[in-house]
Amino acid sequence: MNEKQLVGEKAVEFVKDGMVVGLGTGSTVYYTILKLGELVKEGLKITGVPTSLATEKLAKELGIPLVTLEEVDYLDVAIDGADEVDRNMELIKGGGGALLREKIIARASNQFIVVADSSKVVETLGTFPLPVEVTSFGHAITKKHILSLGGTATLRQSMGSNYVSDNGNYIYDVDFTEIPNPEALERALNLIPGVVENGLFVGMADKVITLKNQKVIVKEK
Ligand code: 5RP
Repeated sequence: MNEKQLVGEKAVEFVKDGMVVGLGTGSTVYYTILKLGELVKEGLKITGVPTSLATEKLAKELGIPLVTLEEVDYLDVAIDGADEVDRNMELIKGGGGALLREKIIARASNQFIVVADSSKVVETLGTFPLPVEVTSFGHAITKKHILSLGGTATLRQSMGSNYVSDNGNYIYDVDFTEIPNPEALERALNLIPGVVENGLFVGMADKVITLKNQKVIVKEK
């Protein structure tokens, strides 16, 4: 079993009958969703809230009942991947482009569980370019304001055109090299007009499921 599958499947241990579950996006939480699909077929009663159109499609194919955020007051748990996790359990997310819905759903959840293989664990965030979702309107000006905070920014591309998120926005991948103060940067970015959200998830993760010395571990806050 590969690392993504090991950590992804471990997360289902925290899902119980009757829960409303945020379903993340990406190749690690994919294994969580596959396992949940199996358990639903065996009788587990859960309701999922997908963080992307891709996850919505997958969950529907697996027969996981879904609701929208408008139909629930809160979620019991959200499970999602990450692009980087530091030792304080701060995260960079959004490599898959779903950061806005992922952050809304994580914030609406009583518990946020991150599944991350050992390659995602870093000392300091920032080697992975930070995804920043921006409105297409005025995006070049928005980029200039982002760059006033440092780094270099690349407008994400997909099949020869500007990548468009599920929310109809563009994404700049911003290479800051190192992010020593994720909280300050998260706030500063979100104060820029045109920035919709950024991929820093600060103080949000309750558990990180990863591997140490080839063993699955669950780090808690
Ligand atoms: C999508 C995300 C993903 O959780 C993140 O990119 C990790 O993906 P993967 O598990 O495929 O490495 O934030 O927006």
